[in-house]
Amino acid sequence: TMKITFYGHACIGIEVNDVHILVDPFISGNPKASHIDINTLKADYILLTHAHQDHILDVEAIAKRTEAVIVSNYEIASHYGNKGFNYHPMNHGGSWDFEFGTVKYVIALHTSSFPDGSYGGQPGGFVIEGEHKNIYIAGDTALTMDMKLIPMRTKLDLAILPIGDNFTMDVEDAIIASDFVQCDKVLGYHFDTFGYIEINHEEAKRKFFDKGKDLMLLEIGASIEL
Ligand code: NI
Ligand code: MN
Repeated sequence: TMKITFYGHACIGIEVNDVHILVDPFISGNPKASHIDINTLKADYILLTHAHQDHILDVEAIAKRTEAVIVSNYEIASHYGNKGFNYHPMNHGGSWDFEFGTVKYVIALHTSSFPDGSYGGQPGGFVIEGEHKNIYIAGDTALTMDMKLIPMRTKLDLAILPIGDNFTMDVEDAIIASDFVQCDKVLGYHFDTFGYIEINHEEAKRKFFDKGKDLMLLEIGASIEL
């Protein structure tokens, strides 16, 4: 099985065969996630979709303690490699077989500067093919036709999609995205953290339900198993 934990905003924990993967750690700066302690989180790998502060804030603290391998686009991975962290650089369209499964770095339509304005490469998302389950983590992105490429290679069991609007897709576009990636089981993220991205939970779930789809919105710290 694959255990997926929501750590708030766009931070996701994935546990497969005792391997711990953390995606986009932004916890210590998220008042809604104050009950999550970054000093106890396990991480063998840290996957980063892009370089924005609300996705990388806790990378160094967690990677220093865990010696996790930082997986991201070439620019972001090298940035951490140059600072002495373990890293694995990728770029769009490329896949790599890790111990927990195959990771593909896919297109996201967004931007990717580091907090100091330096270049963070081009933003992406991840398709993870585990032993039994496959998931798509879209990252921050607009709705894009490139999402249609994903089901040509991978049958997804879960799509993790941003739904907060303003910086990313809104709920309506996320519904279309779930059509594009051919996955009706969606975990929503990137909502409610800031005033710009507050959403109505019941309305969002109903809109998905009306299209025959399932939108899950997890409490921060809650998990699902696939
Ligand atoms: Ni962003
Ligand atoms: Mn973001």
